[in-house]
Amino acid sequence: MNGRLWTYEDLNVIAAMEQENFPAEPWNVRMLAESFLSGRFIGVLLEEEGTVTAYGGVGVVEDEAELDRIATAEMFRRCGRGQRVLEDLIEAARTRGARRMFLEVRVSNTPALMFYLKNGFTGAYARPRYYPDGEDALVMKKELI
Ligand SMILES: CC(C)(COP(=O)(O)OP(=O)(O)OC[C@H]1O[C@@H](n2cnc3c(N)ncnc32)[C@H](O)[C@@H]1OP(=O)(O)O)[C@@H](O)C(=O)NCCC(=O)NCCS
Repeated sequence: MNGRLWTYEDLNVIAAMEQENFPAEPWNVRMLAESFLSGRFIGVLLEEEGTVTAYGGVGVVEDEAELDRIATAEMFRRCGRGQRVLEDLIEAARTRGARRMFLEVRVSNTPALMFYLKNGFTGAYARPRYYPDGEDALVMKKELI
């Protein structure tokens, strides 16, 4: 399992994975590129024998990090890959000066909720009807210090 930073050349593959992992709200190449080029963004992925198996991205502004994306390809889940990507993102965000990390998760996304709880995130507040289909988001937070 080799973790590395995203390159611009990875964006097409990540956009394809976005459609599989976030069918309701995938980021397309343009959205990924805007973040990637913003100077605030850190993207990490795992590549195994030439295949991207997991990826994630975080934006850092001053001492706050926002976890924008994280996903593991379906057939590779529950083997520690998401954990590895999240740990790498947290470490990179800390190095950039972040002291806390926030994220938004659909309240029905039990695997992600369990994953974040395991990784020390706690519920901060809800954003009612946050998603286009009317579902609420839970904002979660983790202190990085
Ligand atoms: C959430 C997600 C990234 C987790 O990735 P993963 O590679 O399967 O996670 P890991 O194997 O590293 O899991 C680490 C721990 O998280 C928890 N966890 C992960 N998936 C879980 C599930 N389906 N049910 C319960 N707990 C789960 C477990 O505690 C797990 O440790 P364990 O396997 O030793 O019990 C993955 O389910 C995914 O890509 N989902 C679709 C995209 C998505 O919803 N992303 C989050 C958007 S907010």
